[in-house]
Amino acid sequence: MPDRFDLPAGFRWGAATAAYQIEGAVEEDGRGPSVWDVFAARPGAVRDGHTGAVACDHYHRYPEDIALMKGLGLDGYRFSIAWPRIRPTGSGPVNPAGLAFYDRLVDALLEAGIAPLPTLFHWDLPQGLEDHGGWLNRDTAYRFAEYAAVVVDELGDRIPTWITLNEPFVHTVFGYALGTHAPGRTLMFEALPAAHHQLLAHGLAASVLHDRGLEAMLSNNLTPVRPASSDPADVAAAAAYDTLHNRLFTDPVLLGRYPDLSTLGVPDDIYGAVHPGDVDLIHAPGLDGLGLNFYNPTRVAAPTDPALPFTLVDIPDAPHTAFGWPVVPEALTQLLLQLRDSYGKALPPITITENGCSVTEDTVPDQPRIDFMATHLDALAAAVAEGIDIRGYYTWSLIDNYEWAEGYHQRFGLVHVDFATQQRTPKASYAWYRDLIAAHQARRRR
Ligand code: FCB
Repeated sequence: MPDRFDLPAGFRWGAATAAYQIEGAVEEDGRGPSVWDVFAARPGAVRDGHTGAVACDHYHRYPEDIALMKGLGLDGYRFSIAWPRIRPTGSGPVNPAGLAFYDRLVDALLEAGIAPLPTLFHWDLPQGLEDHGGWLNRDTAYRFAEYAAVVVDELGDRIPTWITLNEPFVHTVFGYALGTHAPGRTLMFEALPAAHHQLLAHGLAASVLHDRGLEAMLSNNLTPVRPASSDPADVAAAAAYDTLHNRLFTDPVLLGRYPDLSTLGVPDDIYGAVHPGDVDLIHAPGLDGLGLNFYNPTRVAAPTDPALPFTLVDIPDAPHTAFGWPVVPEALTQLLLQLRDSYGKALPPITITENGCSVTEDTVPDQPRIDFMATHLDALAAAVAEGIDIRGYYTWSLIDNYEWAEGYHQRFGLVHVDFATQQRTPKASYAWYRDLIAAHQARRRR
C-alpha cells in the first residue's frame, strides 16, 4: 500500500489559517468592521461570547508565527486577506495601511523561504456591504472583483497563485441559511442567492487574476455523501444532499452548469439570482487548481423535517473528534476518486487546502491529531497512486485559533496558544509534521 512517504517529489507541505481567526487588531490601522465583529458581539451568537478582537494577536506577532512555520520546514502557508483592512466599508476608499500589513507579511514569508498562498475571502465581509444585503446583493460580487484587483496589483508581483473564496457552501449554509455563523441570517433554501453571488464573485475575480497572468483556485468544502441504507428514500435524500453540499459549488465552475436543483425544491434560476450569462462568467475563466477542504464524510437518511429533503445522521461506528466530527480517513480517497469520476478531464490539479482536527483541551501531547493527519495523508497517497494529480497538503491549522461559533473552545493547531498570555507552545504534532516534511525533503534531494 502506498503511504505518505510515497507522495510525489514536488508535493508541497503547508499549513493554513484565516484572518479573522488569528489576526486580532480589529480596530487598528484603519480596518473597518466585518460581519464577524458584529455577529460575535451579539449576545448568545458565539459560545461564551468569544470574539476575534484579539484572537492570536497575529497582526503583531506574525514574525514569531513565521519562525514557527520555518521551524516546521513548510513549503507554503495559506492565509487569508481581510477585506475590511483593504477597503474598510467594502466600497469606499482603499486603506493603504491595510495593504502595508500584507506587504510586510508576504515579504517576511518569502524571506523565510515559504510560498504565500492567500485566500481573498474567508468569511469576514465588510459590514458596510452587509448593510446593503451582503452576499444576497449581486453588487457584492462586483465589489469583490474590485477588491481583488487592488490586492493583486499590490502583491501579485510576488505571488503567482491565489484562492478566491473559502468554502462558499459553509458560508452560505451557516451564515445565511441556518444563522449559526455571521451574518446570522436564517433563510433556509432562500439563502442560495448568496451562493450564486459568491460563485459569480469567484468568476469575476478569476478573470482579474488571469488578466494579470496569475493563477486562480477555489477552496471548496467537499464531503462524500453516504446513504444511511439502500432504501430508495435514503438514496434519494443522499443525492439531494450531494447536490447542495458538493455539486452546487463545483459543477458551475468545472462544467459550466448548475446541477438539477429540483430535488431541493429550488428553482433553476435560484430565485431569480442567476442572470443570463452568469454561469459563463463563473466557468469561462477556468480553474487552475481546486482547493479541497476535507474533514469528514456525511451520512444521510430520508427526510424527517418537512422543510428539508434529507436528514443528516451520525456515523456511529467511527471515532469522533472533540468537535464531534466522525473520523473516516478512507473517505478522503473515496472523495478524490469520485471527483475524478464525476469531472474527468474537467478536474484541475487538486491541493488539499484544509484538513485537520480539534482535540479536547489539548496542550502538548496530541496523539489523536498525529493519528488523524497520518491516516489522512496515507488516504491521500492512495489516491495519488490511482493517478490523481494532488499538488500539496495544507493542514488546518498552524496554531490554535478562533473557531467561529465555538469561540476558543475548539483547538485545531499544531501549536498551542495560551489565549491569556499569547504564549505559543509547539505540540507533539508539530514535531511529527516537521519530521515528516524533513523525511520527504531528504528524499527530494536524493
Ligand atoms: C473550515 C473553515 C476553517 C476552520 C475549519 C475547522 O470549515 O474553513 O476556517 O474553521 O473549518
